[in-house]
Amino acid sequence: MHVRNYMVAGRSDEKEPPLDFADEALVNRYAAALPRYTSYPTANHFNASVGPSDYRDWLGGLDEDIALSLYLHIPFCESLCWYCACSTKATRRYEPIAAYLDAVEMEMLTVSQLLPRRLRMTHLHWGGGSPDILSSDDIRRLGNALKNRFGISSETEFAVEIDPRLMTPEKAASLVEIGVNRLSLGVQDFEPVVQKAIGREQSYETTRQALDFFCNLGIRSVNVDLVYGLPYQTEASLERTVEKVIALSPHRIAVFGYAHLPQRMHNQRMIDEAALPGPMQRFSMARRLTWLLEQAGYQQLGLDHFARPDDSLATRRLSRNFQGYTTDRADALIGLGASAIGRFPQGYVQNVVSTADYIRRVEQGNLGTVRGWALSQDDKLRAFVIERLMCDFAFSSQAVHDRFGSVAAELRHEAECVVASAADGLIERTDDGFRLTQLGRPFVRSFCSSFDAYLNRTAVDKSRHSLSV
Ligand SMILES: C[S@@+](CC[C@H](N)C(=O)[O-])C[C@H]1O[C@@H](n2cnc3c(N)ncnc32)[C@H](O)[C@@H]1O
Ligand code: SF4
Repeated sequence: MHVRNYMVAGRSDEKEPPLDFADEALVNRYAAALPRYTSYPTANHFNASVGPSDYRDWLGGLDEDIALSLYLHIPFCESLCWYCACSTKATRRYEPIAAYLDAVEMEMLTVSQLLPRRLRMTHLHWGGGSPDILSSDDIRRLGNALKNRFGISSETEFAVEIDPRLMTPEKAASLVEIGVNRLSLGVQDFEPVVQKAIGREQSYETTRQALDFFCNLGIRSVNVDLVYGLPYQTEASLERTVEKVIALSPHRIAVFGYAHLPQRMHNQRMIDEAALPGPMQRFSMARRLTWLLEQAGYQQLGLDHFARPDDSLATRRLSRNFQGYTTDRADALIGLGASAIGRFPQGYVQNVVSTADYIRRVEQGNLGTVRGWALSQDDKLRAFVIERLMCDFAFSSQAVHDRFGSVAAELRHEAECVVASAADGLIERTDDGFRLTQLGRPFVRSFCSSFDAYLNRTAVDKSRHSLSV
């Protein structure tokens, strides 16, 4: 194992520092079904008013000197975890995957031909699903196709999401060979009773071995995903999981609150709802996790990410994208694959979700775009404020004014009203804007929603949005 333990795990005998008082009534008041604000407007508002012809124009209109980011979606897993809310499907056969990859290569060709020239790619992300379901040969094939079509270099930050249960030394070698330099491992929870209840059994050894494959190849940037709010989790069980994760010494840890949306995600109907923790338990778990990780030397970033103080996530300006928190500040994002979302200065485009429809469209040389959103000036203003709140828990009125001019005054007025109506001491004015207090930070999604012009507050869609605490 090349990565050494970063710091000593948080110990339960140490006295917890006093935390701001947050009682159950307060938690229940703010525990609502709300967006996670990985974009604004959120993807459920995308519609057919934006389609392939807009996407063609937006690609062709990109400035030649911009920084570009690329996301590639692999919507396949060997089996479906019961809690999963990702856009993926289970397959035991490789043929559907091979057919999908042919289509992705075709989409790469179509998209690259629409770009004004070969643009500099600063970030590349393979997500899913489980990109490590691909064979070593296909990993190389896809990596080479990307290199041939886009401006990828050794400077490109290249991250891949890994299901440790699928990883082999050969696959790790092919990923590193094509330039992968960042890794994100799915763990969620190490407790056997929780793993049984979520349909995902994954030993600590399996996880450690997958990590070792990459560490032996010199990879030095690792993220681990955890989830709290799962069935049968307790603060004590989470502490045991966190100790094991800290022993793996990842550079970053993402801790997501479980999004339970069984009306949309049929696999989640396998989850025993009676065993799910309630809002106050979720809140206490998140607080405990934060304390444990901070004791171990990790720094909390935004709502749910933690990083070593020397990791770029802690040292650079935080941004938000569809994967969560990132240092990626590229001017445009190209999304490849079924359901993938692209972001351009003019707005968002999204590919069709069904893999069969995606293959049909792109095989004929068409784009896979079926919906999107063209950003108005008001959208851009609100997107800026919501992103700063999600990342910094604050925003500067001056920065908003510098970017958006006089229209910012209306938003400032809205912020004043939010402060005036929030009697709980969760948000306050600063010399130059507004910030959430320590007590208010866990409820940041609720404050972001105050600036969301499209959220229907009288009929918030519980089937679409997850619990905000
Ligand atoms: C694409 S998966 C990660 C890679 C790989 N498929 C795996 O699971 O190991 C993305 C991550 O989303 C998170 N996730 C999935 N479903 C979720 C849900 N319902 N609520 C919260 N987080 C969820 C999990 O932490 C998961 O690791
Ligand atoms: S959590 Fe990961 S492995 Fe499990 S179904 Fe979702 S994408 Fe697949």
